[in-house]
Amino acid sequence: MAIERVGVIGGGLMGSGIAEVCARAGSRVIVHEIDAAAAESAMGRVESSLERAVDRGKLDGAERDAISSRITLSTDLSQQSDCQLIIEAATENEELKREIFADLDDLAPTDTILASNTSSIPITRLAAVTGRPEKVVGLHFFNPVPVMALVELVTTVRTSNDTETTVRDYAASLGKTVILAKDRAGFVVNMLLVPYMLAAIRMYESGVATAEDIDTGMRLGANHPMGPLELTDFVGLDTTKYVADVLFDEFKEPLYASPPLLTRMVEAGLHGRKTGEGFYQYD
Ligand code: CAA
Ligand code: NAD
Repeated sequence: MAIERVGVIGGGLMGSGIAEVCARAGSRVIVHEIDAAAAESAMGRVESSLERAVDRGKLDGAERDAISSRITLSTDLSQQSDCQLIIEAATENEELKREIFADLDDLAPTDTILASNTSSIPITRLAAVTGRPEKVVGLHFFNPVPVMALVELVTTVRTSNDTETTVRDYAASLGKTVILAKDRAGFVVNMLLVPYMLAAIRMYESGVATAEDIDTGMRLGANHPMGPLELTDFVGLDTTKYVADVLFDEFKEPLYASPPLLTRMVEAGLHGRKTGEGFYQYD
């Protein structure tokens, strides 16, 4: 099946990037958000990302306008009903995602593929609320989506070969390299990356070094593009804590336990760049 119409649920950091890369590849994209203000912010994120590409000479004005014209924002979920692939990228919360999957299963044609961009939640649990588990996969993009070359494709024991092939081909057509992961919490990358971010928070909390020195250490000493605390701010502390909790719940290993400092910062509303404050302050 050729994918021409894509639905995206949630137009936050990730959903807006996913919408952009799908529209850049020629698909028509309809992004669902919770209200008009959230929909407007989502379109603003897409437009500023496209503008950045124009400023850097990667796109011309006509290409930018053509890409933007392929993206529609909506607050009515039934508008997703003519999509061939729907990628859920709402807030990392299992209950919320299960509700969204059940609603999508009710309204989408039986051959529509349902994918989740979850960072950690086992896909089988989302597939289980649908009547089409053979058409459900994890399709995990990385932040910032237009820049990061990887997509993890997560299949469950119920995913069909046809679904796997269709989604793999579509992700490749977006210019992404696809790796396959079994359905375990955190898949491949977050199972390795998140304990490293949590270890950096524990190091900072115990006073071994300042946040700046921990980040400078890993940028200059290990050639990482961002230090671990900058990266946690970039991903979102709320998302990082939720992912840690899902990993801890699955494996019961102390390395996945959320450090008290992370828990308190999330409770205090310090969610990183998106709220203007995390380990650092942002304009
Ligand atoms: N949206 C679109 N494009 C962006 C962007 C954004 N938010 N931020 C940067 N870019 C583009 C720039 O336009 C530039 O493109 P060109 O090379 O085509 O000109 C390129 O990225 C480099 O940007 P800059 O020179 O401005 O900045 P930089 O060199 O400091 O790179 C960065 C910025 C790409 C974000 C880099 O710091 C980086 O790679 N950081 C680490 C990102 C990372 O590890 N992501 C994974 C997070 S974990 C995850 O996603 C999984 C999960 O489930 C939580
Ligand atoms: P975010 O907080 O930036 O955006 C979430 C968006 O979902 C918000 O705009 C919110 O209004 C919307 N939303 C909430 N409930 C909704 C509903 N019922 N219908 C439609 N929209 C709804 O979060 P994010 O960072 O974009 O994360 C989204 C998903 O992508 C999560 O599952 C997260 O784990 C995953 N993810 C995040 C990153 C990252 O670095 N932040 C990387 C890869 C994957």
